[in-house]
Amino acid sequence: MFELNLDISDFLENYWQKKPLVIKNGFSHFEDPIMPDEIAGLAMEEEVESRLVYKKDAQWHAELGPFKSFEQLEKENTSLLIQALDHWHSDAQELVRPFRFLPNWRIDDLMISYSTKGGGVGPHIDNYDVFITQGLGKRHWRVGAQEKLREFSANNALKHCEAFNAIIDVELEPGDILYIPSGYPHEGYAVEPSMNYSVGFRAPDQNDLLSSFADYCLDTTEEVPRYNDIDMQVREKPGQIETPELNELHRIMLAKCETPESLIPWFGCMISEAKHELDIAEIDPPHTEQEVQSLFNDGAEFIRLGGLRAVYFATAPDLLFINGEQFNCEGFTEFGHYLCDQDEIGSEAIELFDDNPDALALFTKLVNKGYWYVI
Ligand code: SIN
Ligand code: CO
Repeated sequence: MFELNLDISDFLENYWQKKPLVIKNGFSHFEDPIMPDEIAGLAMEEEVESRLVYKKDAQWHAELGPFKSFEQLEKENTSLLIQALDHWHSDAQELVRPFRFLPNWRIDDLMISYSTKGGGVGPHIDNYDVFITQGLGKRHWRVGAQEKLREFSANNALKHCEAFNAIIDVELEPGDILYIPSGYPHEGYAVEPSMNYSVGFRAPDQNDLLSSFADYCLDTTEEVPRYNDIDMQVREKPGQIETPELNELHRIMLAKCETPESLIPWFGCMISEAKHELDIAEIDPPHTEQEVQSLFNDGAEFIRLGGLRAVYFATAPDLLFINGEQFNCEGFTEFGHYLCDQDEIGSEAIELFDDNPDALALFTKLVNKGYWYVI
């Protein structure tokens, strides 16, 4: 269990997306939830996204996993990074929980880096907010002000930025946390073999949002009327697009998203989709509802699969969006929302669905899909 030493209201008011912050001793008595050899083991797996970044003869190198051997990790100036560690390692997944004071839909994933002395990925700017927790070892971090800096490719897989003046220059020790808002240049180099855990946040690009919404409309609407101008008037200027014509185009474009609610099915499915592969194990043969009920009665704890995204909307409480799919929780919204709000549920949830067969049926379905599992 990781407990965050942070005044959350003060953080949200003064730092979140506003300025970087060093949270000294953010986690007291921090113990790494994963060991370096486990990180190497994961980097050998096909499904796991891993990268080896190193500097040799003043030249940056980046290689993508899976890796068969790790000679490079015996040398200095090297980092091994694993994306979406929360999908693959249940103990490490617990490091996301302290940051759930920010909503599920904004959290992206947990990345880990293991660095040898001098290891780092170089000076760069991320377009997402990140909390970087120091685990094993020490790492020296520099963070600059948000300013226009030249960015360039250090090689085909690494984007760097030019040198910057530091507004934060600090050596992190185990349990310290560095919060870096999107757009602030930073670089961190290990002072000694070091592990860092980064919880990153997604902020959808506005054009990507539009394009995703358009794709959703194409996929879900069979036939839509075409533009028509049955009231065509006599006109003098064939080169001119008349104001009512432009207004009609504008009306058509907005008709699909006239109210905030009309975005719900699209946004719910899109934002609950996992960006990185999930470690899904479907239950075979599937559990019956009675079996799931008995597991609850026997005190089982159900854990939400690492990285699985589950959300609902305040304005559409009867709908749940889980891993890109829409589910109905009419009649048992309290239980449905509990599933999305909690990382694990146990016998305390029984009273939320006790008399509702639909709730048990839905939960059984989700368990059989491998979305919640018993430890
Ligand atoms: C790292 O842990 O090496 C990279 C973290 C970052 O700079 O985003
Ligand atoms: Co970064």
